[in-house]
Amino acid sequence: MDRIRIVGGRRLTGTIPISGAKNATLPLMIASLLTEETLVLDNVPRLADVVLLQRILGNHGVDVMVSGKRPGETADHGQTLHVSAANIVDTTAPYELVSKMRASFWVVAPLVARMGQARVSMPGGCAIGTRPVDLLIMALGRLGADIEIDGGYVVATAPNGLRGGEIIFPKVTVGGTHTAIMAASLAKGTTVIENAAREPEIVDVADCLNKMGARISGAGTQRIVVEGVAKLSGARHAVLPDRIETGTYAMAAAMAGGDIFLQNARAELLQAALDVLQQTGVTVTSTNQGIRIARNGADLVPVEVTTAPFPAFPTDLQAQLMALMTRARGTSRIVETIFENRFMHVQELVRLGARIQLDCERATIEGVERLKGAPVMATDLRASVSLVIAALAAEGETIVNRVYHLDRGFERLEDKLARCGAEIERLSG
Ligand code: UD1
Repeated sequence: MDRIRIVGGRRLTGTIPISGAKNATLPLMIASLLTEETLVLDNVPRLADVVLLQRILGNHGVDVMVSGKRPGETADHGQTLHVSAANIVDTTAPYELVSKMRASFWVVAPLVARMGQARVSMPGGCAIGTRPVDLLIMALGRLGADIEIDGGYVVATAPNGLRGGEIIFPKVTVGGTHTAIMAASLAKGTTVIENAAREPEIVDVADCLNKMGARISGAGTQRIVVEGVAKLSGARHAVLPDRIETGTYAMAAAMAGGDIFLQNARAELLQAALDVLQQTGVTVTSTNQGIRIARNGADLVPVEVTTAPFPAFPTDLQAQLMALMTRARGTSRIVETIFENRFMHVQELVRLGARIQLDCERATIEGVERLKGAPVMATDLRASVSLVIAALAAEGETIVNRVYHLDRGFERLEDKLARCGAEIERLSG
């Protein structure tokens, strides 16, 4: 199993190219199931989750072709995927595959909408909380699907097709909103989705679906209206930049000190997080080409932050902010409202010398003068990158074990940081 070795204390200077967003790529690939024509996706990040979803879709009969490099292209350019679901050969998504990646459960929506049936394993437990799928099932039921739970599988059927309906989410859910939009796109009649998630990735997927011939309006607001169409076609779409990768490197630069440019990053995708960074005393400058982050020696100012659905501070940056606040001058407070149990990084940060107290969904972080390198364990995707951030400012060597979590969501992380001067390397095996 690969590990990452980091020696802290180096400032970061230079440019980091921001990749396409993982959380848009996955539903976009899944949306290919809605059409028999080819969907071409540009700016796709090279991530373990993308490869795994290729395999999962392959099981349904989807062909995914990755374009070769064009002249002048470097590893910094995203990949282009040609995804074709011309022939769906299997409408079952088995436990062995769905349990490896929760988002693959979302195939249930396009499969039942296009094929009239889907048999998809429940995703099962997850390190960051129970993460149920009841609201996704509710949404499909509102569109006329018959739902049964059989042997750990959700069996959704709609032999005569789905029909439009009103879906009111009692809680904001990204996966529920993706599911509802995809299913409603091929339903007969109009669907109204209330209390929809407003995340930029929802807007990106809706934009792509509209290019495919869907009629979706209101994406990015709490009320989305979908006029169902009989058929969708192929399209070409470039994935939007990853706001979580952007925020992560912004916090890494804030932690290590220095001056970096996050190329292709878009400030409006993570304004709440950039506002928090400014409160901590970091200089944030955004341009059409990206975002510059600079911190030159000044102490970090502590902050109080509560995670919430977009446009508020994202749960996917909570662990990274906590790592940063371990070095602030004073006491910070972070409240996690999206996922219970999303504090797996705390005990590992404490191993590096952090002072953090937990009280249910509240973390109190007393800033310390110094962190000290140690062996630590990555527990989930965002938690593991918070350990990297802490290690950048820790004295001596930190070894982050189980980095396969990082590879799920961060493209060439050690490469991007090393090019800006960090002492970081991957130890294979
Ligand atoms: C997506 C993101 C993930 C991010 C999360 C919240 C992807 C691939 N993943 O996950 O990175 O952390 O949004 O921004 O895009 N819930 C229910 N019942 C349901 C569905 C959700 O109670 O049927 C709850 C969840 O337990 C959680 C909250 O709703 O407390 C939000 O979850 P949701 O927005 O659905 O997260 P995901 O779509 O799984």
